[in-house]
Amino acid sequence: MTSTFEGQMTADQLRDTFTGFFAAKDHTVVQSASLIPHDPTVLFNVAGMVPFKDYFVGNEQPPFKRATASQKCARAGGKHNDLDDVGRTKRHLVFFEMLGNFSFGDYFKEAAIPYAWDLMTESVEQGGLGFDGDKLWITVHESDDEAEHIWHEQVGVPMERIQRLGDKDNYWQMGDTGPCGPCSEIHIDRGPAFGPDGGPLLDPTGDRFMELWNLVFMQFNQSADGTRTALPKPSIDTGAGLERILALKQGVDSVWETDLMQPLIDEAQSITGHKYIVGDYDDRASFAMRVLAEHARSSTMLVNDGVFPSNEARGYVLRRIIRRAVRFAYLLGTDKLVMPRLVEVAGNVMGQAYPDVTKNMGFITDVIGKEEERFRHTLKNGLAILDGELNDDTDKLSGSTAFLLHDTYGFPLELTQEIASERSIDVDLDGFNADMTAQRQRAKAAQKGGADAGAIEGFRDVLDQFGVTEFVGYTDDFADCRVLAILDGPADADGNATVDIFVDRTPFYAESGGQIGDTGTITTDSGTATVLDTTFALPNLRRHNARVTDGTVSVGQTGTASIDVLRRDAIRRNHTATHLLHYALRHVLGEHVKQAGSMVGPDRLRFDFSHYDAVTPAQIKQIEDIANHETLGNMPTRIFETTKDEAEALGAIAFFGDKYGDIVRVLEAGSTIELCGGTHVRATGDIGTIKVVSESSIGSNLRRIEAVSGDASVALLQRDESLISEVAQMVGTQADDLLGGVQRKLDEVKGLQDEIKALRSQLAAGRASELADIAVEGVVVTQVDGLSPGDLRELAIAVRQTPGIQVVVLVGETDTGGVSLVGAVAPGNPKPASLLIKDAARAVGGGGGGKGDIATAGGKDPSGIAEALRIAAEAVPQVL
Ligand code: ALA
Repeated sequence: MTSTFEGQMTADQLRDTFTGFFAAKDHTVVQSASLIPHDPTVLFNVAGMVPFKDYFVGNEQPPFKRATASQKCARAGGKHNDLDDVGRTKRHLVFFEMLGNFSFGDYFKEAAIPYAWDLMTESVEQGGLGFDGDKLWITVHESDDEAEHIWHEQVGVPMERIQRLGDKDNYWQMGDTGPCGPCSEIHIDRGPAFGPDGGPLLDPTGDRFMELWNLVFMQFNQSADGTRTALPKPSIDTGAGLERILALKQGVDSVWETDLMQPLIDEAQSITGHKYIVGDYDDRASFAMRVLAEHARSSTMLVNDGVFPSNEARGYVLRRIIRRAVRFAYLLGTDKLVMPRLVEVAGNVMGQAYPDVTKNMGFITDVIGKEEERFRHTLKNGLAILDGELNDDTDKLSGSTAFLLHDTYGFPLELTQEIASERSIDVDLDGFNADMTAQRQRAKAAQKGGADAGAIEGFRDVLDQFGVTEFVGYTDDFADCRVLAILDGPADADGNATVDIFVDRTPFYAESGGQIGDTGTITTDSGTATVLDTTFALPNLRRHNARVTDGTVSVGQTGTASIDVLRRDAIRRNHTATHLLHYALRHVLGEHVKQAGSMVGPDRLRFDFSHYDAVTPAQIKQIEDIANHETLGNMPTRIFETTKDEAEALGAIAFFGDKYGDIVRVLEAGSTIELCGGTHVRATGDIGTIKVVSESSIGSNLRRIEAVSGDASVALLQRDESLISEVAQMVGTQADDLLGGVQRKLDEVKGLQDEIKALRSQLAAGRASELADIAVEGVVVTQVDGLSPGDLRELAIAVRQTPGIQVVVLVGETDTGGVSLVGAVAPGNPKPASLLIKDAARAVGGGGGGKGDIATAGGKDPSGIAEALRIAAEAVPQVL
C-alpha cells in the first residue's frame, strides 16, 4: 500500500494539513463526532456542521468561536442521499470524511473566503494543499454580490472564473429544518479530457469542473413550515470532501484509486477473481467491485459507531447497504462470504485515523458477516422469484411480489427496485405500500413527539433573558434560588394542569444520560410547588415541571429548591450500579458490548447493549458476582473533569453518540472508569446488593438487562423469602425442605391418580354386571347417564363380555350435557352394530356410525333419549 502512494499526500497527512492550517488561525481542532447524530432531524451526520447545530442556532453557547474538524459523514437517506449513485460515478460515497472550518458568530465571508483560497493554493511546504490557482473556478449564489466582490477584489480571482448559480446549486440546507444559507463553491478544472469548457455553470455532471469545497454562509434557521428566521449571528460552515481532494493530490482519476479505496478494490478483485478496469464505468464487474469496496467501508464505520442491521431507521439503511453489496458479490459468482474479508481491509485502511475501528474489528466483522449469512440464506431463492416475474411481458412488478421479497426473502425494497430498473421495469409502489401500511403505522406510533414549536420559543426567551441554569446538585440537595419564569407546562399523569418553573440555581438533576430527572419541592414565602420531573428545556436550561400544591409561587420570588433526597439516593445507587454492570458485561461477554441506551430510576435500572446472543443464566450469575464483588470492595468513587484525550488515555469508556466538548466529566467507581454526567454514590459499598431481574432481546443484536440495587434488592429478597415460606406452608413443610415437600406432594398426587383409575375400573365392572343382570334373552337396551362417550363405550364392551349377552344398546346424557349412544353385537355376529343406533341417533338430534360389532353416535338433545331407546329396541331384531 505505501509503495503505490509513496511521495504523495496520504489521507492521514491531508487531515493534518487541513486542520493544522486552521489550528494556526485560532481554530480548536475537534475530534470527529459519531455518525449517529444527537440531532433527531437527520438520520446520520450528513455534514461537518451537524454536531455543531445547536451552536449555530443559538440553543447552546459554544465553548469556542472557531473550530475545525475532519468529520465522519454518511449520506444514505433523507435530503442528502448518495447511496444509489455509489459505484456509478467517480466520486459518490455513502461514507466519507468532510474537512471543515466553522465560525460561530465570529468571522464571516470576508475571512472565510481568503482562508479557503490560501489553503488551496499555498504550497505543500508552506502548509497548503498546493493547487494551481489558475485552475480554480468559483460559484456564488446569484444574489450574493458581496461574495463575488471578495473573490474578485480581495482574492484576485478573474471575473471569467466566477459564476453565479441559483438555489439548487448555491444554497445549502442541513435538512428539511435547521441552519441554512447561501454558499460559494470552489471547483477545479481537470482539463479538456474530462469534458467541454465553460465552467461549472455548463458542466452539470461536475466531471470536468469538480466541486472541491463548499463555503456556506449560515444566516437562517429553517422551521418545519418553511419559514426562515435569522440566526443569532451570521456564521461560517465549510465542507471539503476528503476523498476527492485526496484523489487529486494522489494524481489519480477518481476516489476509487486513492489509498483509502484502492486496497478495498484490490481485495474485491482477489475475492471475486474478476479484473478491475480503472476508469471503465460501463463494465459490470468493475461497477460491482466499487460497490463492494464502498459498502464494506461504510458498513464498517457504521457498525463501529453502534448501528446494527435491523428493520428500523438507521439499522435499515445499514441492512440495505450490506445486502446491496452481497447481491453484487453474488452477481460476480462468489458463493462464499465476502464481507468479513473486505471489512478486515476497511479496518486496516481506517484504523490509523480511527483506532477504535481496530479495537472493535472482531465485533464489526461478526455483525456484518452474520448479516451477510442471513441474506445469503434467501438470496438465491428471492432472485429466482424475481427473475421469474421480470419477464419481457411485464412492465410493472406487482407490489405484492416486492412485499413478499421484502418480508420473506429480506430484499430491501430499494434493492428490488434497483434490480427491476436494470431491466427497465417499475415496481408497483402503491401495492407495496398498501402491504406495508401496518408496519409503517407501528413505526410511526413508536416515534416520540418533541415539544411543540411554541413551547421552544418560550424556552428560548427564558434562555436569552437569564442565561443557563446553575446546577449545584452534584454536591447539594437544596439551594436558595430565585424564580425567573413560570410557563404553562404539560399536564401531569392525572391530567391536571402543571407549570414549568425556571430558577437561577437548582439542585435538581435534569433527565439526561439515561438518569431520570429529580422530584422535590420549590418553596417560597407564599407557597410550595411540587416538582414532578426535571428535564432540559434547552441545553443547560433546566425545566422543573411542577404542580403548585400549596398557596402561590410567583416570578421574582426567592425560595428554596429541595430534591427528594431518598429518591435521589436510590437513583444514585442504580446509576453507579449501571456502570458496574456495564463493566461486568464487558468482562463476561466481551469488549464488543456497547451501551445502546439506559434508564436509571429510583426503583430499577435498565441497560441496553449490543450483543448477538441471549445472555445465559450462568453468564448472568457471573455478571452479578463480578458487580457485587465491586460493591463489596467498597472503594470510594472519584469524579473529576479533564480533557477528552486525557480521559481516553486513562481508558475511560465513552459512548457512541456522545457529543464532544473540550472538557469531560469522568467517574471512577471500583474497577470502572467512564465518562458520565450523572449523580453517583460516594463509595461502591453504598449500592448494597446488585441483582439482575430480567434479560431480553429488544431488536437484532440488541439485548436489555434490568436490575435492582439497595433497598429494592432487599425487598426482592424479602418477597422471595415470603413466597418460599408460603409455598412451604401450603405443602406442609419447612422452607429448607421445600423441594422435598413439593416432591412428596407430587408423589401423593400420582398415587391418588392411580387409585382413582383402579376404582373407576372396579366401578365399571360392577355396573356392567348389574346391566347384564337386566338382560332379557341376551339383549340389554337401557339408559346410563353421566359418563363420557369413551366411558360409555367401555361399559358397553364390558356388558357384552358377560356370557349369553348378544346385543347391548346404551344411551345417556353425557357428563358434559350432550347425548351419547353405543350399540354392540356379540363378536362374530356378521350384522353391523350401527343398525342398532343409526335411527335412534336422529331422535336426539345427532348421528354417528362404525362398521363392526361396536358403533357409537352422539347427539345434542337429551329430551329425545326415551324415544331413542324405543327406536333402538325396535331395531334389535335386525341384528339377531
Ligand atoms: N455543510 C456544507 C456541505 O455539506 C459545507 O456542503
